[in-house]
Amino acid sequence: MKTPVRVAVTGAAGQIGYAILFRIANGDLLGKDQPVILSLLDLPQAQKALNGVIMELNDCAFPLLAGVTPSDDPRVAFKDVDIAILVGSRPRGPGMERSDLLAANAEIFKVQGKALNDVAKRDVKVLVVGNPANTNAYIAMKSAPDLPKENFTAMLRLDHNRAVSMLSEKTGTPVKDIEKMAVWGNHSPSMYADYRNATAAGKPMPEAVNDEAWYKDTYLSAVGKRGAAIIEARGLSSAASAANAAIDHVRDWVLGTNGKWVSMGVPSDGSYGVPEDVMFGVPCTCENGKYTRVKGIEMDEFSKGRIQHTLNELLEEQAAVADLLK
Ligand code: NAI
Repeated sequence: MKTPVRVAVTGAAGQIGYAILFRIANGDLLGKDQPVILSLLDLPQAQKALNGVIMELNDCAFPLLAGVTPSDDPRVAFKDVDIAILVGSRPRGPGMERSDLLAANAEIFKVQGKALNDVAKRDVKVLVVGNPANTNAYIAMKSAPDLPKENFTAMLRLDHNRAVSMLSEKTGTPVKDIEKMAVWGNHSPSMYADYRNATAAGKPMPEAVNDEAWYKDTYLSAVGKRGAAIIEARGLSSAASAANAAIDHVRDWVLGTNGKWVSMGVPSDGSYGVPEDVMFGVPCTCENGKYTRVKGIEMDEFSKGRIQHTLNELLEEQAAVADLLK
């Protein structure tokens, strides 16, 4: 029997928590031979609901679930964890400005980054899902100076999966035959779903789509506004698809992508004109538990403009929380 891997999930009593925990315990994250211990963090007022979720996890009698503990203290929840999926964040309340939301979340991710810094495994893999995901991940990274920066990532995978699925539908190509999609920038409607290098069953995607106006005028905004379309239809924000994307992101990071491109929010190394440390969506491949950016992608004028647009938004978010990081 392998040694269990410790996985922390924050916001565990919320909707995404309810959609992700059972799949992790079932082996969807790390494989069907890898036991896991779940360490669940939520606010004090959510502990009763969290205990209900734990009762249900126990009632599944998952063979791979080697333990599960609740906590309302990040320093307890993150102790010795190998993986931390940070979902819990402050939703926008009535009358709350965007800057208030950024500040409220900055405070949460500062505390959690510091706790990870102090008590998590030194090679902990951190995925931030809670919005604004890129900036929250940036704050957590900056609050954890003793951990390598590359341990911190933000979730662009839901945008990536949406982008692939819509191209699959447009071209009639099965999802599994679509490769080399790239989603750049912020997890927000400003992201840039770049199909220039993608292929549909080996054929260049722009040729397979054969409708540049659709790509530029319909597709890009449809991917960017998909989250809002789901809220409009369901009355609730995406949860199962967000949980699925988080599982895809971490599984690929740990187990590898076998050469396939996936989009991940990672601290910039300065490539593609993105200043160092900005938590920016880029195409990556993963191997041996490490991600590598795809380098050398050529940028045309349209792509440069889109990347600058999403970068400007991220730089504004960073500026809004700069004081809190001092
Ligand atoms: P939810 O409101 O159902 O659950 C959030 C949970 O987080 C609640 O149980 C709450 O008590 C908890 N929480 C709040 N502050 C916390 C803290 N400081 N520490 C620990 N737990 C805390 O929300 P849902 O639907 O599960 O979404 C969670 C987040 O994920 C939201 O910020 C949402 O915007 C974001 N999201 C991100 C996506 C992405 O692609 N990056 C996609 C979909 C959602």
